Amino acid sequence: MEPATESRSYSPGLEGVLAGETAIALVDGKNGRLTYRGYPIGELVRHGSYADVAELLWTGEWGPGARLACASLSPPVLAALRNLPDGANAMDALRSAVSAWGAAERPGWPPSAEQARALTAMTPTALAGYARLQQGLEPIEPDPDLPLAAGFLYQLTGELPDEADARALDAYLIVAAEHSFNASTFAARVITSTKSDLASAVCGAIGALKGPLHGGAPTEVASQLLQIGSPERAEAWMRGALDRGERLMGFGHRVYRAYDPRAAALREVAEGMANAADWLKLAVAVEDVALRLLAERHPDRGLKTNVEYYTAAVLQGVGLPPAIFPATFAMARHAGWTAHCIEQASANRLIRPDVRYVGPAERSLPGVGATA
Ligand code: ACO
Repeated sequence: MEPATESRSYSPGLEGVLAGETAIALVDGKNGRLTYRGYPIGELVRHGSYADVAELLWTGEWGPGARLACASLSPPVLAALRNLPDGANAMDALRSAVSAWGAAERPGWPPSAEQARALTAMTPTALAGYARLQQGLEPIEPDPDLPLAAGFLYQLTGELPDEADARALDAYLIVAAEHSFNASTFAARVITSTKSDLASAVCGAIGALKGPLHGGAPTEVASQLLQIGSPERAEAWMRGALDRGERLMGFGHRVYRAYDPRAAALREVAEGMANAADWLKLAVAVEDVALRLLAERHPDRGLKTNVEYYTAAVLQGVGLPPAIFPATFAMARHAGWTAHCIEQASANRLIRPDVRYVGPAERSLPGVGATA
């Protein structure tokens, strides 16, 4: 039997395919605009906190002054972190912590804002705990009086963080909190659509974000700037990289053809950070050269600075080790992922697309066929 002729069009990577509806965020790549529930990202960074923004994503309501502190780890989560095999990275740790949290808490369906708050408050403690265990140090109990970003920094070092650093990290968490139907968010929605629980959806999302095409760039931006070393070396270094067919990290985006509004917001934050000053000077000089060279080579492509570029400066400036940059991104994205799970559940339909079959026509096993 021949497969039925398939006339519907297929878009590899689902590029350009409308795969759902959302009221959470709008990414306007052509004009370089990003809004959460209609509010521009720059305004949210200037006037809100991560807790305010997370509440906005979960509930749709803007209520400045929201509180979200890091939560203690339950024994199963702590045990999961202590029992990780050697060589497990920070994303493995976060995924394992969320999995253990789900097994212990058993969040029911549908996912709720309350579940989202509890999970989002747990992950910074888990990530800081993992980072300390890696250094042979004991995890630190969270301080319930500190907001999430400050609490995370405190649990990494055991010292109360500088206010400007905490504010800068908070700004990063805001810009990284949500970005519509990217791969990890879509993965979370697919899992939620089966009526699986919130922890399972977030484990799937962390798995998707772990891939280097999605969440790995800030570490590479940091290494690129380290290799360039000084503004005078930027042009020769980058021309060499482009001649070898390599990509300049922190530039280009699948959706944005204009300057990524998150990069603009983070650059503003980095400019206010004393600890990021040297990095920032180098980053700004290198960015100018990169944009000029990319415009020369791809004049029609609109290759501009993306969010990962200034992420590297901010995260480096607040003293985070590059090895936990991707997991810090995952920690921030908890607000967006869980908001999407809530939204998916509120008008749920199992996500199950079709596929075009391109294998052999139906046939019999060798020696078993009708002609035998
Ligand atoms: N440096 C040099 N050239 C680039 C870059 C770059 N950063 N980005 C795209 N190009 C070139 C490609 O080589 C390609 O050229 P060609 O047509 O001559 O082959 C052309 O632009 C189009 O490239 P695509 O891969 O089709 O562009 P796409 O929009 O799909 O890529 C991506 C987006 C993957 C982000 C890409 O720009 C890239 O690899 N950037 C560097 C890595 C990076 O910064 N990633 C972080 C993205 S932001 C985020 O994940 C939150």
